Amino acid sequence: MSYITKEEAPIGVFDSGFGGLTVAKALREELPHENIIFFGDSGRCPYGPREPEEVKKFSLQICRWLASLNCKLIVIACNTATAAGLAACQLEVDVPVIGVIMPGARAAVEATRSRKVGVIATIGTIASGAYLKAIRSLDCGVQVLSLPTPGLVQLVEDELIQEYIEALDVRQARVMDELAPMIGGDIDTLVLGCTHYPLLYTEIKSCFTDDVELVNSSEETAREVREILTRRHELYQEDLPGKLTFVTSGVDTELRNRIASRIMGFEIKDVQFKSFDEEE
Ligand code: DGL
Repeated sequence: MSYITKEEAPIGVFDSGFGGLTVAKALREELPHENIIFFGDSGRCPYGPREPEEVKKFSLQICRWLASLNCKLIVIACNTATAAGLAACQLEVDVPVIGVIMPGARAAVEATRSRKVGVIATIGTIASGAYLKAIRSLDCGVQVLSLPTPGLVQLVEDELIQEYIEALDVRQARVMDELAPMIGGDIDTLVLGCTHYPLLYTEIKSCFTDDVELVNSSEETAREVREILTRRHELYQEDLPGKLTFVTSGVDTELRNRIASRIMGFEIKDVQFKSFDEEE
């Protein structure tokens, strides 16, 4: 991959798996002319239950690699990796690195009227307290109700990987079960603090009354990327669709093409393979 100018250089996006494609998709919609390289670490997914030090190490490996491909900006499209590795990645490479937690927190603070916000995420993200800190850094008066919901990651993974689609009512019941401690609370805004959760938007939405707004940090993150590139005069000006490159550490070719196509909404036939297993 050779990119000549900074404007032409790609935006690097990575996630523990394919859930982060929800961020790549939002970026594609916001900035259709940008070249994007997406890496999904499916071979080592999930990150949620892993120790923060290990997630930080994985994030650094991927971030260094994306920087070596001349990415002009890197998005950590994974909440767990953002919580464990954002600061280390920012210290490591000389291009801007952003995560998905601050954009999601900002959207939640702007949306809430009751100033009572719910956050659902992996065990790792909730344990890090990263959303609580981000929300409080914007508005100390907002109350945050946090709930780890690893079962929702499992549900999405089961459906994506095994192509085993639960009957609608069974799927809804699994979502409701997982969200039970949050349902009926007096939050008016719920942050989908995991990149897998937008894939369950309808099921999550129907667990709450209409006045509860769901915040999906993908769109907010895409807007933040636009702002940064605009300020740095690094938006690609060419009027052609940008090139999309998909890379994963997952080994099954058929499967990786199928999952990527399903989330992006168009056919992808050439997801490439890359492993970091031998690297420190
Ligand atoms: N991508 C992760 C996140 O947004 C969820 C999946 C995982 O546990 O790796 O937190």
